[in-house]
Amino acid sequence: MTEMLRRPAVLYDHLAEAIKDPDAVRVGDDLICLRFETMKVYSALEAVRHLLDTGAVRAGDTLIDSSSGMYAHALALACHRYGMKCHIVGSTTVDRTLKIQLEILGATVEQVPSSNNLQLDQNLRVRRIREILRANPTYHWMQQYHDAIHYLGYTAVAELIGELVPTGPLSLVGGVGTGASTGAVAEFLRAQGRDVDLVGVQPFGSMTFGAEHTRDPDMIIAGIGSSIEFRNVRHELYDRLHWVSFEYAMSAAVDLLRSSGVFAGLSAGAAYLCAVWERSCDSSRRHVFIAADTGNRYVDSAFSRYAEAYPMDSMRPREISSLDDLAVPWSVMSWDRRTRGRLAGAEAACGVVS
Ligand SMILES: Cc1ncc(COP(=O)(O)O)c(C=O)c1O
Repeated sequence: MTEMLRRPAVLYDHLAEAIKDPDAVRVGDDLICLRFETMKVYSALEAVRHLLDTGAVRAGDTLIDSSSGMYAHALALACHRYGMKCHIVGSTTVDRTLKIQLEILGATVEQVPSSNNLQLDQNLRVRRIREILRANPTYHWMQQYHDAIHYLGYTAVAELIGELVPTGPLSLVGGVGTGASTGAVAEFLRAQGRDVDLVGVQPFGSMTFGAEHTRDPDMIIAGIGSSIEFRNVRHELYDRLHWVSFEYAMSAAVDLLRSSGVFAGLSAGAAYLCAVWERSCDSSRRHVFIAADTGNRYVDSAFSRYAEAYPMDSMRPREISSLDDLAVPWSVMSWDRRTRGRLAGAEAACGVVS
């Protein structure tokens, strides 16, 4: 009896292999939550392996990138796994717990002073990387924001979804940072002939899908959105876009924990909120949402405010057809697989200088 309840025993060669797969958990009204310990491990492992296989780097070389947290951890683990050196230029969102782990894993970590301006922050980190590369020309810059190599690892996640839901239309909901996770999974499943609606989730203020003229009075949601252009985002893959405030993301993250036991971060809370809404609009599809990380990093900034959380059924989005009408706390728009060029058109139309 016990044996039937237990997963088959697997002895992993490295921790990164053990934690890369998400757990699929049924939550609420038949939503599937893909709950990752820390999502970018698949992506970093596969990217480093590909660089080694193609001879772009050799064992012992140094890989460098900028990260606000999750990618730093994944890259440090991948470097540890494949015998590479790792240098991280982090923002101050790389907290003490992570910084100490990275250092013990053998990575070198430097933090550029944080400013209140996210764009300045991101630009400062890129400038610092360019300086380091000038001084160390053999270092390889991973460029998670721009290099399509980061799509490769997620084919395994798409295969997992294909096994969980072998037939019928799907809807995939997830936060968009670099766009590699949501984009790769949708692309791979579509290439297999699956009918997949891709629903991206953004914070207000993000320029990725043209919301830089909006502002969340509270704070942004770590890891998703951007104030500089990420060339890894493939705009033409997305069917619907949601913009969610910190307060609503926090409220949904609290509900996700309370109703299902899943303790996940703010981007997961926002994705859950949007998945519940999308399902109420079209229950003929199977809705899968991504919970990219655990809730630990968000205890002080979000979960401790649980008494202020709004009930799920009190939150409704504003359905908009123009970026002009974007409004906090929650807006949704049919994106209809527009390209970035058409985004530039939309920005011009609503008077935002690109
Ligand atoms: C917490 C969190 N959720 C979601 C994402 C989005 O992932 P991607 O970069 O694949 O779009 C990130 C990216 O860093 C993240 O940190």
